[in-house]
Amino acid sequence: MNHISDLTPEGIQNADKDGDIPQPIQHGDCSPNCPDCGGIGYVRYEVPVEHPKFGKVERCRYAQSRSIAAYLRSGNLDPRIGLTADEIRNLNWNLVRKGVNQADQACATTRKAFEDGHGLVFLYGGFGQGKSLILKIAVATAVRAGKRAAYANLSSVLDNIRTAYDERENKMTELVRRMEWWSSLDVLAIDELDKVGQTDWAKERFFQLMDLLYQRAVRQEALTIVAANYQSTDELSGYLKSRIEDNRFACNGYLIHLKGADGRKSMPKNWKY
Ligand SMILES: Nc1ncnc2c1ncn2[C@@H]1O[C@H](COP(=O)(O)OP(=O)(O)O)[C@@H](O)[C@H]1O
Ligand SMILES: [Mg+2]
Ligand SMILES: [Zn+2]
Repeated sequence: MNHISDLTPEGIQNADKDGDIPQPIQHGDCSPNCPDCGGIGYVRYEVPVEHPKFGKVERCRYAQSRSIAAYLRSGNLDPRIGLTADEIRNLNWNLVRKGVNQADQACATTRKAFEDGHGLVFLYGGFGQGKSLILKIAVATAVRAGKRAAYANLSSVLDNIRTAYDERENKMTELVRRMEWWSSLDVLAIDELDKVGQTDWAKERFFQLMDLLYQRAVRQEALTIVAANYQSTDELSGYLKSRIEDNRFACNGYLIHLKGADGRKSMPKNWKY
């Protein structure tokens, strides 16, 4: 693996023409001693032409974790991400325990979708099934990997979009901008689908958003994970049921009914998540 400075003129010739001691040029934001990128923050791979990584430049994994760590330290977390800095740092797939309920199976399927990077996953069932936990883990893992991701209750998403409509002068532009923010993420986890607002406005916006997310999932561009306290998919409105039951998702087992025990009854007393 070479670093990108091999490709830049500065990487080859770095002497000052007045004969002063050459100053090393700070190429990137990684550590100058980084074994992967030498400081530049990006890497390219020595692979044959037919390899999928051929010709691609990627973010160095150390640079990526450095910038995430700096972002978390800065306290400038985008509140729309919907997780605390502690959750982003610590939530991971291994926190879902076997033998409590069916959350471990749901977690394995969600994780597979996450690793594929696209799809529409629907988790439904009663309280304490680990649905919210799985959604948050997916988003925390995505943020740590440098992806654009957010976790939110459906009502908060709709509130965020509605505020644009209530407050801003240029209402339509702001509305479009906010719809675009929620529908353009790499990973979006929408919780508490059952508590959707019943106004025509809320229903219409929700339909519009879900349709955009559905289309991106079909095009294999993004992952949406939805959770609801439902006992059956018949509780979904027709248009949503049809999209969620799309065979391209259902055949991967992305329609997940959790019918186990309430995990809240058996969580250890120091359990934070
Ligand atoms: N299998 C599990 N492993 C670890 N924690 C679990 C599990 N199931 C539930 N929990 C915990 O139980 C509590 C309730 O789970 P939650 O994800 O909020 O459930 P739901 O969203 O399905 O109502 C949370 O603190 C969660 O971390
Ligand atoms: Mg929940
Ligand atoms: Zn590096």
